[in-house]
Amino acid sequence: MTGREIREKYLKFFEQHAHQILPSASLIPHNDPSILWTAAGMVPFKPYFTGQAVPEYKRVTTCQKCIRTPDIESVGRTARHHTFFEMLGNFSFGDYFKESIIPWSWEFITKELNLPQDKLWITIYQDDDEAFEIWHKTVGVPAERIVRLGKDTNFWEIGVGPCGPCSEIYVDLGEARGCGAPDCQVGCDCDRFLEIWNLVFIQFFRDEEGNYSPLESKGIDTGMGLERVASVLQGVASNFDTDIFREIMDFTANLAGHKYGQAADTDLALKVIADHCRAVTFAVSDGALPGNEGRGYVIRRLLRRAVRFGRVLGVHEPFLYKVSQAIIEQMQDAYPELKQKSGHVIRVIHTEEERFLETLAAGSDILATLISEAKASGASEIIGNDAFRLYDTFGFPLELTQEIAAEQGLTVDEDGFNAAMEEQRKRARSARQEIEYISERGVLYKALREELGDTRFNGYSTLDTDSNVMAILKDGLQELSAVAGEEVEIILDVTPCYAESGGQITDHAMLIGPDLSVEVSFVNKPVEGLIVHRGKVLSGVLKRHDSVKVKVEQPRRQDTARNHSATHLLHKALKEVLGEHVNQAGSLVEPDRLRFDFTHYAAVTPEELLRIEEIVNQAVLANYSIETFETSLAKAKEMGAAALFGEKYGKQVRVVKMGEFSLELCGGTHLTSTAEVGLFKIFNETSVGAGLRRIEAVTGLGVLKYLGAKEAQLEELAAVIKSPVQEVVRRTEALVQHNKALEQEIEALRTKLAKSEVQDILGRITQVKGVSVLASVVAAPDMDNLRGMVDMLRDKMGSGVILLGSTAGEKVNLVAAVTKDLHGQGLHAGNLVKEIAKMVGGGGGGRPDMAQAGGKNPEKLQEAIDTVHQVVEKQMK
Ligand code: ALA
Repeated sequence: MTGREIREKYLKFFEQHAHQILPSASLIPHNDPSILWTAAGMVPFKPYFTGQAVPEYKRVTTCQKCIRTPDIESVGRTARHHTFFEMLGNFSFGDYFKESIIPWSWEFITKELNLPQDKLWITIYQDDDEAFEIWHKTVGVPAERIVRLGKDTNFWEIGVGPCGPCSEIYVDLGEARGCGAPDCQVGCDCDRFLEIWNLVFIQFFRDEEGNYSPLESKGIDTGMGLERVASVLQGVASNFDTDIFREIMDFTANLAGHKYGQAADTDLALKVIADHCRAVTFAVSDGALPGNEGRGYVIRRLLRRAVRFGRVLGVHEPFLYKVSQAIIEQMQDAYPELKQKSGHVIRVIHTEEERFLETLAAGSDILATLISEAKASGASEIIGNDAFRLYDTFGFPLELTQEIAAEQGLTVDEDGFNAAMEEQRKRARSARQEIEYISERGVLYKALREELGDTRFNGYSTLDTDSNVMAILKDGLQELSAVAGEEVEIILDVTPCYAESGGQITDHAMLIGPDLSVEVSFVNKPVEGLIVHRGKVLSGVLKRHDSVKVKVEQPRRQDTARNHSATHLLHKALKEVLGEHVNQAGSLVEPDRLRFDFTHYAAVTPEELLRIEEIVNQAVLANYSIETFETSLAKAKEMGAAALFGEKYGKQVRVVKMGEFSLELCGGTHLTSTAEVGLFKIFNETSVGAGLRRIEAVTGLGVLKYLGAKEAQLEELAAVIKSPVQEVVRRTEALVQHNKALEQEIEALRTKLAKSEVQDILGRITQVKGVSVLASVVAAPDMDNLRGMVDMLRDKMGSGVILLGSTAGEKVNLVAAVTKDLHGQGLHAGNLVKEIAKMVGGGGGGRPDMAQAGGKNPEKLQEAIDTVHQVVEKQMK
């Protein structure tokens, strides 16, 4: 059975048992800061198990893309470690429980997959008698093949959220695969017993502090590793030998002129590359990008490891993007998003590979310097800190530094490297603690949300509401009142204030009572459903249960809406001009400007920017009406709404429609027609990371202000060059020309001056044992000038030794020359200049006829020049 057949069989089986098949969720968890990646099938469904959200279907089945990265170094060295894998799963949200899933799982494994019953073993949580009864009595598994194990193996949890005891199904692969120990049984670390399916009986909620509380309704979460099951059904020893991996490994082997199964080191490389490239391909298609922290760092690390293993195969140019292409072709039927994003994925990978290869080259240069310095100073080791710097700034892995150092007979101070690494970890940890502090506050807001229910938001249709004060918070504690001058957080039962989210910044507002005024300057939603207003009491006393009038500051809201609506137009125009791969990666919508980050692999050219601006402004002038409505996610997608990364499974979504031009899921506040944008003007386009661009723009009166500033700048320039504005370009051109002529004149004068100085200096020649020696401090602005003077003097002298020195700022320049006829007498320009340079705190050298050097102590220059005659005498044979 191929991987694809197993996937289909599984989903179909549960569909027959009334499950809804859903597509895999994104690898980037939505709204779940407790984990970096979607690492199990249940991750997207956490809120359905806890009752925080109501599911559209109570029974669901999926094949979920997963990434787990605790053990990257083991990948390829064992039969089962992967960073990316597929998890087949079925889920019950308060519907069926143990009594159904246990018999179904047995039926699937023994009837659909045809695994022999006498090779199957079961584990259960130590005191789960209920599961024991079902396995033994209902299903008929012999009691001796049901093993009770403890919390470390048979309790399942991931970050904050739903969890519970579990029961696992194992296949006995036969004694030959085992360790041979007499007590070898299920749970042994060896390869004999392979876990293929985990059934989790969701019953508890684990909070941030690790406390467990029972959930109101129970659920089922199961996970079957597709690659493992395939290895069993295909009768191969390792997941890498299944069709799923072989296709990719064979492709890579072919590319590199190797064959799988011929040598241990190339096999390892092929496995690592296949695994890492799968992870990177899927993660990038879900919106992750290589970077220096969090998810980005994981992607970068995997990609770089794969590049390095490419070198084992003898590949020194970008190749992963081709492997990625093969992966996309193999997997696109099961994951259509891969096909949609293929252009983007391949470009991101290619760019990052090229960059890393450049980095490797730059790092190699630095390492070469470190090595020659170490050798020159007689050391046998590269300093740990230096190796860490190479690692940290150039992504140069320790092993690579070691390898290259070893070629030169050097080692690397590993302890020092580890100490530097630990230092950095400590810094990272303290940064994390701050985040944990914020999440403590999160607990408080969650409790408040439970106590008070959702804040009602009516700000889409009004800016002005009567409301009641439900709670007042001061420094995280509830208060009954606040007086003038105090800053507090306020929760209302209903509010028209827009809480900062989706890139749109906060509303400003006033709360007004009979003798009360409160200025609200920040509104946010710290937990779903709860809107918190931060404000300062200006006059009167604010009390809990007060009735207040809430008034949103209208001009700010309107200007923000202008920029927000323009952002949608921009998004659409970008897709039209640059291509469908363009996707929103972040945005900031403020009253006086907008910022839009998007995926694109190259700088946007000036012509493209002009075209984009034009399309947006055409849409503005077309005066499209802007409508908003709610519908299901499925419906919205069907209508062609721009799908977002990390989309929710939630039932209803809000759609913003601008004529037939743009359709987007969005919770923000908008204009009623595009004409209200006024005018749209881009003022900046930059890179904000690999494959990520940023556009900044202004709208409405902001454009007038922007153009006004440009005009003022032009007028200022005109005033500086004393020209009428219309003449600025012509006058500036003339000035540049004039400037060039002046520079040439100065250069000519300088040469003349140098010549006369040369005459002057020639008078200072003295004889040392019959050789003409000329040593002098001269005025020369740089090394080139100094060399020019030496050339001239040598021509004039015909035969002799010259050493000139000059100061340039804090530095000293030295140039020496020895005419050829004197080389036989032991005179050597390089040796001479080296000796003199020492006296001014510097170094240098060069050829016997001409050499130069630098120094750091200008105050020692004259003294050094005065010794030239002695040095020449000493060096002479
Ligand atoms: N969530 C369970 C696991 O990942 C099924 O093993």
